[in-house]
Amino acid sequence: MCKVIAIANQKGGVAKTTTTINLGAGLVKSGKKVVLVDADPQGNLTMGLGFPKNLKVTLKSMMENIIMGLEFDPKEAILHHEEGVDLIPSNKLLAGMDMSLFTVEDREKVLKEYLELLKDEYDYILIDCMPSLGMLTLNALSAADSVLIPVQPQYYAADGLMELLKVVKGIHQRFNPDLQIEGILFTMDNCRYNNAKRNKQAIKTTYGSDIRIFEQTIPRTESLAETASEGVSIFAYDGKSKGADSYLELVQEVLKHA
Ligand SMILES: Nc1ncnc2c1ncn2[C@@H]1O[C@H](COP(=O)(O)OP(=O)(O)OP(=O)(O)O)[C@@H](O)[C@H]1O
Ligand SMILES: [Mg+2]
Repeated sequence: MCKVIAIANQKGGVAKTTTTINLGAGLVKSGKKVVLVDADPQGNLTMGLGFPKNLKVTLKSMMENIIMGLEFDPKEAILHHEEGVDLIPSNKLLAGMDMSLFTVEDREKVLKEYLELLKDEYDYILIDCMPSLGMLTLNALSAADSVLIPVQPQYYAADGLMELLKVVKGIHQRFNPDLQIEGILFTMDNCRYNNAKRNKQAIKTTYGSDIRIFEQTIPRTESLAETASEGVSIFAYDGKSKGADSYLELVQEVLKHA
């Protein structure tokens, strides 16, 4: 059985892409077949895995094939990374898709229809969402079995979280009754700072009884910041680091929750 997890938060820079890469690479290390989907016109996931910006066959082409009802090879867009993880890439042209979807019938289901064609091949499909709640993110949440929410333990994080959870609830009611919340993941955690501790506790108190909060938090580390430009995961870049250990623990928690 394939599980589709959307990694989403409309707040920018909370480590959605970093988490997609390292959770994905970590699941591969545990023997799972994994494809990552770049659902962000910034293309950070694509570049973060070392692929170029100007690829011709991307998620956009695949979604266009679905919209036009064409026969096509759904695997044509798949790229293979050296660490064994696969990728459906994107670039800035995907921004046009976010707009043009508005005029399409069943517009929130296009990505779901595409991913259905890949499910036989994979144990996990991880979708890296863009920092907005537009049509592409709606498509990702409609296609997903669960949503993993990276949150930076900052003072304003709780507000953004409330907005996102409302949207998730709306999608659950209208388009995707199977959508679950995989969990809230604290990222870029300054574990020693009282401020971060206070903000984590506030979120735990507000949501902890209804929503899973991952035991493992991801610390803010130099090597995790550096991997972004290296085209590899933290396991290949600095496998003995705290950042690598924390993502491996996250993998175990996700596997337990299968
Ligand atoms: N644990 C960490 N420690 C230090 N730096 C980190 C960590 N996680 C991510 N970063 C850095 O923070 C920045 C934002 O991370 P990332 O791109 O993963 O966030 P994002 O939520 O995907 O952003 P966007 O909303 O723009 O898509 C990047 O430069 C990344 O390298
Ligand atoms: Mg990103």
